[in-house]
Amino acid sequence: MTQQASYDVLVIGAGIAGLSAALRLADKASVAVLAKGPLTEGSSLYAQGGIAAVLDSNDSVEAHVQDTLKAGAGLCNEDAVRFTVERGPECIRWLIDLGVPFTKEEQSDNDIEYHLTREGGHSHRRIIHAADATGRASATTLERHVREQPGIDVLENHIAVDLVTSGKLHLGDNRCLGAYVLDRQSGRIKVVRARTTILATGGSSKVYLYTSNPDVSTGDGVAMAWRAGCRVANMEFIQFHPTCLYHPEAKSFLVSEAVRGEGGILVLPDGDRFMPRFDERAELAPRDVVARAIDYEMKRLGLDCVRLDISHKPADFVKRRFPTIYGKCLEFGYDMTKEPLPVVPAAHYSCGGIVTNLSGKTDLAGLYAIGETTNTGLHGANRLASNSILECLVFAASASESIATELESMEPPPVLPEWDESWVTDSDEEVVVSHNWDELRRAMWDYVGIVRTDKRLERAKRRVGVLRNEIHDYYAHFRLTNDLIELRNLALVADLIIRSAMERKESRGLHYTLDYPDPIEPTGDTVLTPPG
Ligand code: FAD
Ligand code: SIN
Repeated sequence: MTQQASYDVLVIGAGIAGLSAALRLADKASVAVLAKGPLTEGSSLYAQGGIAAVLDSNDSVEAHVQDTLKAGAGLCNEDAVRFTVERGPECIRWLIDLGVPFTKEEQSDNDIEYHLTREGGHSHRRIIHAADATGRASATTLERHVREQPGIDVLENHIAVDLVTSGKLHLGDNRCLGAYVLDRQSGRIKVVRARTTILATGGSSKVYLYTSNPDVSTGDGVAMAWRAGCRVANMEFIQFHPTCLYHPEAKSFLVSEAVRGEGGILVLPDGDRFMPRFDERAELAPRDVVARAIDYEMKRLGLDCVRLDISHKPADFVKRRFPTIYGKCLEFGYDMTKEPLPVVPAAHYSCGGIVTNLSGKTDLAGLYAIGETTNTGLHGANRLASNSILECLVFAASASESIATELESMEPPPVLPEWDESWVTDSDEEVVVSHNWDELRRAMWDYVGIVRTDKRLERAKRRVGVLRNEIHDYYAHFRLTNDLIELRNLALVADLIIRSAMERKESRGLHYTLDYPDPIEPTGDTVLTPPG
């Protein structure tokens, strides 16, 4: 038997959630952090707008709580909302102390040192940001600190395949003992043992054909937790970001909501500004409203895209405020200081996920989950813009506190069985993976998108069922690869999204169906429990 690595804490995922937790635990525990690819590759790195927090004395916790509850359309857990909002300012101070270079106010005539921007659904300017690359500034600062910590082992290019549980191995009370992990470079599957495991694997938006997310967002955490027996909730609430650049090579590059926050307007090809017809908050209505309005206008007029126009603002302001977006759009031939940008909606954020409490604990002892992979109750039926990095930071802190206390009385995990590959061979037809990958994502886009119907959901369920059977067969016979692991997880997550959408016989927040166009009261979370 090869030597098995063993840690106090195994963090699966190295976005803002995972890196924050690792850093907070580094002086109390031995920690390993896994990333599928390079350390910071994930949604966190690409976050633009910023982080919502109450930082201005004219703003209040109550106002941020109420804005979050309103966006969540009756499904937020108010305790989780208050918990997150109250702890927000402290987490921002933690980032500032670590050296994140947030943009400062140029001329401040009040007590605010940092510039705060505005986004849809917020009643105040409360989004702290680092120009239009907040995620990169935060993630790379965290990365620098993590790499300096001798107590943290960084394992890049390592993808977790499944969690190891004592229940399945008949080793006493059921708890998480670590994970099986594929080293993508050697192709070997290792066992990483841990007293506590944290899932910080990000969202699932790659389940859709068009998404603002990077390739790593394949719902691995949700799929692994489900297979280990954890409940998931509110999987039907997928947030479509209204404004991604429409260009065949732009890979749905995001044009931040902050562009609308700073005065950008949405127009049809003839220049007609349409959002005031849909909502009195116009371009600053919550995202579900804006995305549906765009979808409606595109379908009504047979358009490929609509336009986002901020060219009426001074060019030097636009370039200074949005240097990343300006530069990227210019690469694709659009000068946003002079002309409107072609934009379309794309899948952006998974509001639901693994059920956790306020400490990030899941249903399985020894397993925590934090960040976009979770359902903490903060977002309800729709996430308020810039509340997700906030959630990553707050729950990384609370989970770390809880883990530090638990570790004092926790036994190290036993030696575990090695991964058994004796019955698999190398794949004879990789095309099965690439074909099913495309078919799955297209079916989800066409049938489980911004506007749903019973018929579309039934079609999707049938298609995904066939794909899951094929993938299961393939998984059982061939050696594991990164793509196969992701495809298997995506197909499971697709099934969970469809089942959740089918259970919700109403339209609420991000879930809109023509068959049940109104909300019904009382309502509740869609909670799915894995078979025993
Ligand atoms: P991620 O940052 O996605 O990181 C996931 C990590 O898990 C990666 O390191 C990945 O390699 C790893 N991983 C996944 N599966 C496995 C596995 N099986 N094994 C090993 N490692 C694994 N939110 C805001 O609040 N404000 C914004 O301005 C904002 N802008 C955004 C802009 C864009 C373009 C996008 C895509 C999202 C934006 N969001 C924003 C949302 C926000 O960025 C994400 O919700 C948040 O960063 C998620 O962080 P995370 O740590 O949970 O996951
Ligand atoms: C954006 O900058 O528009 C994204 C903000 C978010 O997803 O919270």
